[in-house]
Amino acid sequence: MAKTANELPVALTIAGVDSGGGAGIAADLKTFAAIGVHGTLAVTSVTAQNTLGVQGIHDIPPQMVELQVEAIAEDMGIDAAKTGMLSNRGIIRSVAKVVEKYGFPLVVDPVMYAKSGDKLLRDDAIEDLKNRLLPLALIATPNRFEAEHLAEMEIRNLDDASLAAKKISRSYNVDIVVVKGGHLEGSYSIDTIYNSEKDEVIRLTSQKVSGCTHGTGCSFSAAIAGYIALGRDPIEAIKLAKNFITKAIERSYRVGKGHCPVNPMAELAIDAEKYRAQNMLYKSVRELENIDDFAALIPEIQVNFVYSIPRYLAKGIEDVVAVPGRIINFMGKPKASGYPVSGASSHVARGVLKAMEFYPDMRSAINIRYSSNIEAIIKKLRFQYYIYDRRIEEPEEVKKQEGMSIPWKVKTAFEKSGSRLDAIIDLGDYGKEPTVTIYGRDPEDVLNKVKKIIEEIKKT
Ligand SMILES: Nc1ncnc2c1ncn2[C@@H]1O[C@H](COP(=O)(O)OP(=O)(O)OP(=O)(O)O)[C@@H](O)[C@H]1O
Ligand SMILES: [Mg+2]
Repeated sequence: MAKTANELPVALTIAGVDSGGGAGIAADLKTFAAIGVHGTLAVTSVTAQNTLGVQGIHDIPPQMVELQVEAIAEDMGIDAAKTGMLSNRGIIRSVAKVVEKYGFPLVVDPVMYAKSGDKLLRDDAIEDLKNRLLPLALIATPNRFEAEHLAEMEIRNLDDASLAAKKISRSYNVDIVVVKGGHLEGSYSIDTIYNSEKDEVIRLTSQKVSGCTHGTGCSFSAAIAGYIALGRDPIEAIKLAKNFITKAIERSYRVGKGHCPVNPMAELAIDAEKYRAQNMLYKSVRELENIDDFAALIPEIQVNFVYSIPRYLAKGIEDVVAVPGRIINFMGKPKASGYPVSGASSHVARGVLKAMEFYPDMRSAINIRYSSNIEAIIKKLRFQYYIYDRRIEEPEEVKKQEGMSIPWKVKTAFEKSGSRLDAIIDLGDYGKEPTVTIYGRDPEDVLNKVKKIIEEIKKT
C-alpha cells in the first residue's frame, strides 16, 4: 500500500458506469463521498442503462482498465478497492494483475446480473472470476443468486447461506465471504458473514425496509471498501456498511419508471438539511420575536413554528425542526423559549408531514389564534383556506387514537378543498381551542403570510 500524505484516505472502485446514475460507479462515488474518503475510479464498461434495464454495454479495453488503476496507485496510493461489473475475461485478468502488483485490500462484489435481470458478466468469464480474482479478495459479497452459483448449491434459508459462505471461502480462498440477504424471504434482510480466520459465522440483521434498491449491492461493497480505507477492521467495516445501506434504502427517492436507486447520500443529506432548516427557522423566529403585534396572535396553547427537511428524507417528527417550549407571549412580546431543534413539535409537525403528502414542497407551518376577525382577514386576503369542524368531520375512531386528529384534519382539508392551502381554520371542540394553522414552502413564506394578517389587523 503506497500510502502517501493524502489528507483523505483513497478508495477505488473498479466497475461499470450506469448512465442512470443509480448503480455502479455513480453509486460508489456517492458512497465514498458520504463516508469521507477520496473516491477514485477505473471504468470497466460503459452501460446505457436506466431504472428499467440495460440497453447497451460497451467494454473498455483491458489495458485501459489496468492503466487507470496504475495511474491512481502510482500517484495517490490506494487504501482499499472494490470491484463491481467486470464484464469479460480480459478485464478480470487485468484487474487481477494490478491487484497483485499493488497489493491493496480488495472487496469483490461478484456481480453477474443487474437488478433488472440483465447479464453483466459473460459466461466464459466466470472461471476467471473464481480462480484468478476471488483468491486475491479480502472480502467477497455475493447476493443470493451469485452465492448459489459460486457455491453450487441452492440457498433457501440462513443455514444454506452459512454453508454457501463457508464453501465459497474455502473453494476460492477468500478470507471473508458475505452472502447478502436482500433476496431471501422474510421481513428481515439478514447478511451472513463467514470469517475464515476464526472459522465463524456472523449474522447482520436489519428490518427489510421499503424504498429503492437499485445499486444496493454496489453501494454496500463500496461502503465496506470505504470503511476499510478509513482504517476499520474488515468485520467492523461490514457492520458499518450494513447500517449505511439500510438508511440509503429507507431514505431513497423515486426516479424513473422501474427500479429506483438507493440514496448513499441519505445520512449526510439528513444532517445537512436539518442544519439548514434550523438556520432558516431561527432567522424567521428572530424576526417574529421583533413583531410585537404578533403577541396578540398567540393562542392559549401557544405557538409552534416548524420546518421539515425535504419530503423524501422526512419519516417522522424527528425530521421536523421546531421551537422547543414553543413561542410564548412574554409581557406582551412574542418570545421563543429555545433555539430550533429537530423533534420539538408533535402537533404542528404532524400537520406538515401530512401536508407534504399532498404538496411535497409545503414544508413549513405555524399555528396562531383563531378569531372571527382573523377568519375574515384570511378571506379578504384571498388566502386558500379550509374551515374544519372536528365535531362533524372527525370520526370516532380518529378521536380515540392518540396523534391521529391532526393528520386527519389536514388530510380532510387538502382532500376536500383540492387546493394548495395557505391556512386551515380549525373551529375546535369542547376543551379544544380553535386555531388557525398557516402553511407555506419555508419559514420565510409562512412569516410573510403572518405579516399580511398582522397588517390587516392593524388597519381594522
Ligand atoms: N429491502 C431491504 N431492506 C434492508 N436491507 C436490504 C434490503 N434489500 C437489500 N438490503 C441490504 O442491501 C445489501 C445488498 O443486498 P442485495 O441482496 O440486495 O444485493 P444485490 O442483489 O447484489 O443488489 P444489486 O441488485 O443492487 O446488485 C445487503 O446488505 C442487504 O442486506
Ligand atoms: Mg449485486
